[in-house]
Amino acid sequence: MQPAARAFAAFTLVFSLALSPALAASPQPVKAEHGMVVTAQHLASDVGVEILKKGGNAVDAAVAVGYALAVVYPTAGNIGGGGFMTIRLKDGKTTFLDFRERAPLAATKTMYLDGKGEIVKGASTDSYLAVGVPGSVMGLEIARERYGTLPRAELLAPAIRFAKDGFVLEQGDVASLANGAKKLSKDKAAAAIFLKPDGKPFEIGAKLVQQDLAASLTSISEKGPDAFYKGAIADNIVKASAAAGGILAKADFEHYAVRELKPVTCDYRGYEIVSSPPPSSGGVIICEILNVLEGYPLSYLGYGSAETVHAMVEAMRHAYVDRNSALGDPDFVSNPVEKLTGKAYAREIREKINPFKAGVSKELMPKGMGESTETTHYSIIDKDGNAVAVTYTLNGSFGTGMVAPGTGILLNNEMDDFTSKPGSPNLYGLVQGEANAIEPKKTPLSSMSPTIISRDGKPFMIIGSPGGARIITITLEAIINVIDHGMNIQEAIDAPRIHHQWLPDKVYMEPYALSADTLKRLTEMGHDVQIDASWPIWGQAAGILVGGKNLAEIEEGGGARYNGAMDSRAAAGAARGF
Ligand code: DON
Repeated sequence: MQPAARAFAAFTLVFSLALSPALAASPQPVKAEHGMVVTAQHLASDVGVEILKKGGNAVDAAVAVGYALAVVYPTAGNIGGGGFMTIRLKDGKTTFLDFRERAPLAATKTMYLDGKGEIVKGASTDSYLAVGVPGSVMGLEIARERYGTLPRAELLAPAIRFAKDGFVLEQGDVASLANGAKKLSKDKAAAAIFLKPDGKPFEIGAKLVQQDLAASLTSISEKGPDAFYKGAIADNIVKASAAAGGILAKADFEHYAVRELKPVTCDYRGYEIVSSPPPSSGGVIICEILNVLEGYPLSYLGYGSAETVHAMVEAMRHAYVDRNSALGDPDFVSNPVEKLTGKAYAREIREKINPFKAGVSKELMPKGMGESTETTHYSIIDKDGNAVAVTYTLNGSFGTGMVAPGTGILLNNEMDDFTSKPGSPNLYGLVQGEANAIEPKKTPLSSMSPTIISRDGKPFMIIGSPGGARIITITLEAIINVIDHGMNIQEAIDAPRIHHQWLPDKVYMEPYALSADTLKRLTEMGHDVQIDASWPIWGQAAGILVGGKNLAEIEEGGGARYNGAMDSRAAAGAARGF
């Protein structure tokens, strides 16, 4: 880090310790020296550690965890969806794998509209038309081939074991299945797997066995992605889709390809942020917001103060306009990444922010423009310092809630992330434009933001979260809580959150995020603040901090090498290290 930035970090620390309000106490981060795996399901975290202990690297562990979560975390873990993997290798090289879903070849711009041009309710979320061509299997295999070290069969073995022999459901697992019960009950094949024979949700202590999924995973283990994209699995999905009025074709599966892309990077107070490029909006918008916030002394203003929250909200308001209007799949639209992540653009935005008054979202409307949910994020680091951040998803909880008979595979409803109709909100209330319109083979714009931060050329923090449109602000807030407010990684993740996404023009806050005084001041400034206690939209972040549990410990030296934290909002997750 540059001396000026180091001085700033020290300054930041002193002020943040002095000014941060007391938050609810968090458990201590999990400490380890040789490796750390943080996921939303404890059995999957154990799988990651098992692979690292065997000598696999962080990418091997990420592949094994990806398959394991598809079995033990069916609400979001998947092979019927897609996602992103951000990688930082021990030599400092960074890269990004895009294995997100693509629109089927027969998709059209207006496929979710009726004859009058109105959105057909549920078409983009609850039907076979909602399913994008899945990318997870190809993504995990490309990651393994390019950056892993262990044979495929070794990485799939734990997932196959859990699917075949079953695993015992604990409170978090049961809660998640109960949450999806209504949706799952509508699909015969899904209900037969995820509900009891009497149609009721499983109880704690029951065993979830998934024989069809075990068979699918075994064929992938033996034959590789061809088993999924060219063999019986694709055939079964296409057959089920056709039978239910869907448009998936075998050619969609045969043409699926993973993209390896350059991550988006920016500098925030001397830290290098490496995050997701388009087709995610995540990295661009996190960088845009951080660049704006860099101009405010957040640590001095204090966590949760009206001034800090005002600056955050206004930065979010401006950045989400760009998210929703300017970004899309890079193979189809030209994304102004350089401009949006530039310091000059951040200065322009700051000049438009009135320090005493809330902005008005409608006034920022670009020309031509008139969420229960689940995704999952996991963070991994190995003994050599290879770091991996993965966010992957079915979009909604359990995706469409539909399983193609014979496959055991839950199918995504990622198509809802496209603009069904410019100006109309999607599952996450996002009002989007033409850049994200539906086209054959196009990938819908995402908010997923698997992020790796380094400092002085070394890994510093791995972070990401589910949360739909809020993924961006959840990830951002964890970052500033560590860098500006001096919190340890667990506190930074657990701290109550706020969110603004341009439209609707509201500041959402988690219960207790703001004091009554602050709330009053923000309201006086013109902010429409709404307490939102819904779950799980506030995400489940998974983070790792390197060299100490917080900045103070890192500066002093002598902290644990790896400090892992699973969001306290996550019912089944765990950070596991060794
Ligand atoms: O890619 C996206 O932005 C969404 N499909 C993510 C969905 C999500 O995070 C749901 N979880 N709460």
